[in-house]
Amino acid sequence: MHRAAHQVYDHPLVFDDPLALPILDPAASAALRADRLDMRAPNPMRAYIVWRARAAEDALAAAVRRGVRQYLVLGAGLDTFAYRSRFGEALRVFEVDHPATQAWKRERLAAASIALPRGLTFAPVDFERETLAAGLARAGFRAEAPAFVSLLGVVMYLTPAAARATFRAVAALSRGSELILDHGVPDAMLGEDERVARARLARRVAAIGEPWINWYAPDDLAAQLRADGFVRTESLDPVAGQARYFGGRADNLRLGGGGYLMHAAT
Ligand SMILES: C[S@@+](CC[C@H](N)C(=O)[O-])C[C@H]1O[C@@H](n2cnc3c(N)ncnc32)[C@H](O)[C@@H]1O
Repeated sequence: MHRAAHQVYDHPLVFDDPLALPILDPAASAALRADRLDMRAPNPMRAYIVWRARAAEDALAAAVRRGVRQYLVLGAGLDTFAYRSRFGEALRVFEVDHPATQAWKRERLAAASIALPRGLTFAPVDFERETLAAGLARAGFRAEAPAFVSLLGVVMYLTPAAARATFRAVAALSRGSELILDHGVPDAMLGEDERVARARLARRVAAIGEPWINWYAPDDLAAQLRADGFVRTESLDPVAGQARYFGGRADNLRLGGGGYLMHAAT
């Protein structure tokens, strides 16, 4: 919904996604277009979601230029990259997601007549119940070749143990693989306004049965990733994200202070 609202309301676009509206339920996309959802005003959550998506696809494009030919979209949700990829069959895409979410997405794709590209493989995996490695092995992933991996909007929903198992599975991929993920920082690192805003949103996601349970301080996450086998980590903070992607805007689309990106390489 946030990516779709961005296409409708924000100019210039930070993240250009022509499928963000079509993949939604038609009633939701009609309500958005007709401005019935009270989503017109820019907000930090929308900025955060388009920032992480844009930064991930920029990093993916750089990895493809270096020769990477596999993209793992972990916790893909309604991510539409595979259906608008400019790399065609040169880049294999594996969408890994919770089986229930993936089944719902496949219904949405069919209902919206969005074609499944030949280079796309769906790999249902519940990270709380099985390892990424097991799911990838079933899906025909080439473990001997490097991959670019995104994990966007996911770790806050996982137990720390399931998140760690997923980091370790990515760290064990072929040398030259990369991971980009986003994470929230602990409440203690937030200002008062941001703590209040997070608590309000947290109540909403908990009410729909998907509570936020896992936060990381950037230094702690970097240390964990290095201990798990990543050789390079780079934390991208929202101040740098704001400067890079949101400079010179006339509207008030701005990142808040609570969400960070981490880019790591094996
Ligand atoms: C907020 S959505 C993010 C979707 C997408 N990556 C994006 O950036 O819009 C959270 C995603 O995490 C996935 N997820 C949550 N818990 C999971 C689990 N235990 N195993 C696999 N996926 C999970 C959900 O299925 C969903 O696709």
